[in-house]
Amino acid sequence: MESLYGGATHRRVTILDLAAAKKRGEKWAMLTSYESMTAQIFDEAGIPVLLVGDSAGNNFLGGENTIAVTLDEMIPLTRAVVRGSHRALVIADLPFGSYESSPEQALATSTRFFKEAGAMGVKLEGAHIATVEKLVASGIPVMGHLGLTPQALHQLGGYRVQGRTDGDSILEAAFALEKAGAFAIVLELIPGELAQKITNALSIPTIGIGAGNRCDAQVLVWTDLMGITKNPPKLAKAYRNLRAEMLAATTEYSNDVRSGTFPGEEQTFH
Ligand code: KIV
Repeated sequence: MESLYGGATHRRVTILDLAAAKKRGEKWAMLTSYESMTAQIFDEAGIPVLLVGDSAGNNFLGGENTIAVTLDEMIPLTRAVVRGSHRALVIADLPFGSYESSPEQALATSTRFFKEAGAMGVKLEGAHIATVEKLVASGIPVMGHLGLTPQALHQLGGYRVQGRTDGDSILEAAFALEKAGAFAIVLELIPGELAQKITNALSIPTIGIGAGNRCDAQVLVWTDLMGITKNPPKLAKAYRNLRAEMLAATTEYSNDVRSGTFPGEEQTFH
């Protein structure tokens, strides 16, 4: 594939395509998706990687944060994203409590995502090096996630910028993940200078979110991108205001039903 955009459309993007993009210096965008409708749209727009993030827990299932979402909840969402897309590489996020106990637990969880949902890779938070080695040795592509790791929210004391004073430990963890075989690493909420240093030091792609624009790729939560999230984080940019659009459409529909103007003649069968 010469480019991740406008490249081959007859097959899925693979981790080898992402490695080649890093070599060419081609940047790319990842988006979260939790069901088939958005997966269809993002796939049509050419987004090369879709993440079924555990952010489904708060952005789709109404939880307060990502901690409560379960494996059994994530599997049908992942299956829907795989069904809705034809070209994107679909990565499933391992939910809190489904992988930390042991490499074997992580393998069992990832196997369910592969067999029951058709996932093509998994993401996990933190530097679980032995686990990454086990998964990669078992044929499971692994995306790492360093910096702010939302599953450790309570340990970190909130959604705070990481790496201002301990940047070297994040760099070391990134190196260790690369050595263990991770194919990419999400860098969340760290100083842009640190993200740049890590990006330059690694041969695998970095994917930034709140980590400046020097990463190889970027990721956004789709509801933030579209302006649906009620209180979006500072790191996000809303490209549209779909919350206002949807509110307006819903009110119009409701008013039309109440006034008797919907359904009209066009929607009526004779
Ligand atoms: O779950 C998620 O949406 C994520 C991204 C923010 C990277 O982990």
